[in-house]
Amino acid sequence: MTQDQTTATTPRNSLTLIDNRTGRSMELPIKPGTIGPVVADIRKVYGTLDLFTYDPGFTSTASCESRITYIDGDKGVLLYRGYPIEQLAEQSNFLEVCYLLLKGELPSLPQAKDFRKQFTQHSMIHEQMQFFLRGFRRDAHPMAVLCGLVGAMSAFYHDSTDINDPVQRELASIRLIAKLPTLAAVAHKYSIGQPLVYPNNRLSYVENFLAMTFSVPTEPWEGNPVLTRAMEKIFILHADHEQNASTSTVRLAGSSGANPFACIAAGIASLWGPAHGGANEAVLAMLGQIGNKKNIPDFLDKVKNKNEHARLMGFGHRVYKNFDPRATVLRQAAEEVLKELGINDPLLELAMELEQIALRDPYFIERKLYPNVDFYSGIILRAMGFPVSMFTVLFAVARTVGWISQWREMIEDSEQKIGRPRQLYVGSPQRDFVAINQR
Ligand code: CMC
Repeated sequence: MTQDQTTATTPRNSLTLIDNRTGRSMELPIKPGTIGPVVADIRKVYGTLDLFTYDPGFTSTASCESRITYIDGDKGVLLYRGYPIEQLAEQSNFLEVCYLLLKGELPSLPQAKDFRKQFTQHSMIHEQMQFFLRGFRRDAHPMAVLCGLVGAMSAFYHDSTDINDPVQRELASIRLIAKLPTLAAVAHKYSIGQPLVYPNNRLSYVENFLAMTFSVPTEPWEGNPVLTRAMEKIFILHADHEQNASTSTVRLAGSSGANPFACIAAGIASLWGPAHGGANEAVLAMLGQIGNKKNIPDFLDKVKNKNEHARLMGFGHRVYKNFDPRATVLRQAAEEVLKELGINDPLLELAMELEQIALRDPYFIERKLYPNVDFYSGIILRAMGFPVSMFTVLFAVARTVGWISQWREMIEDSEQKIGRPRQLYVGSPQRDFVAINQR
């Protein structure tokens, strides 16, 4: 079939897939979204043409339909339920964003009030969890502790593990979002040997988290509005990011019918890696390693040398091929926090110099590598007094609402199936077993 014949005889809302080996062809229906690229529906390809599609890392594959978050990586756009991230970061608060992500709309005043009440009711953790916590070594990484504690929630909250019951799904969602700050603070306090601090429901979600992390029972604790606002922005910016590695992990784990606590624990484990949420910790380690502005050129030479297997952490993104809008908000927030605290952080200066040099370098320009959200978040968190090992934990606290929203969307999707990718097998063909004395 020539290209002209194909165009004349096939509907415009489909794509023709021709197998040149056999001459067989099929029509792939095209599904449009609200905005962004359309998708070709390849679900029947194997049944019709007896072949799989190949896409390691899902660079061209949409794994689901979603109404939650939209990213235009070329234009540097990020929308939660249609609202631009910059507007939410400036004008909203984290709980309002949680409501938006979970329910699809911004809350009215009474809805926001009621929503807040539900979270404060569930902010405490089961007292017995302390004994579970004590099983960890004091020097355990807080991400390891968080992963364990969240996984253990399914052993503590039996009345919210039935995924087929919408009431239990709602309860599990609220419990997870409400308790994550408490668990994160507990992981921190345990590692530094200070008494665990109970949540205080008079404080906002973010302030409560800061109080549980930084206050001690012997001293009154006073929040700083500039720092609370910066933290609120960090939480909002990290709340969701469509089908990234950890969210896809949550969806895949959940597709088998696993309970929500187990699924979120899986998401936390995936987030921990340095190519994903662990990058904020890695950025600080990298800046420390560079040490001084004069060492930047040598470091960048190393990054550009493929044999060195080094990366400029906090740079590059699978989807953003222009700027990461989250990084733009955080760059400004970093300056505000450092000014408020009167900190002249040489690492921030180093980071800014590194950013400028990298942005002018043809290696980064050609590959469209720009600073991502992790480039600046670490500087803010460090200035606020968080140990580096807590950086990814904070990412997990903020991302929990995104994971839960995506998990719920998947459970409620009538087209949902257990996630089960196929493979291109390149191993040995069938062969017969050889006894050990004959090998
Ligand atoms: N430093 C140096 N080179 C890079 C970097 C980097 N940070 N990122 C990508 N490249 C190069 C890569 O070597 C490759 O070059 P070539 O074409 O010559 O082989 C090219 O750019 C494309 O890279 P890729 O690995 O195919 O891109 P990817 O989409 O698979 O990776 C990424 C995306 C985020 C894993 C990667 O950019 C990276 O490792 N960045 C550093 C880690 C980081 O900051 N991660 C946080 C991501 S944002 C927060 C989050 O969502 O978790």
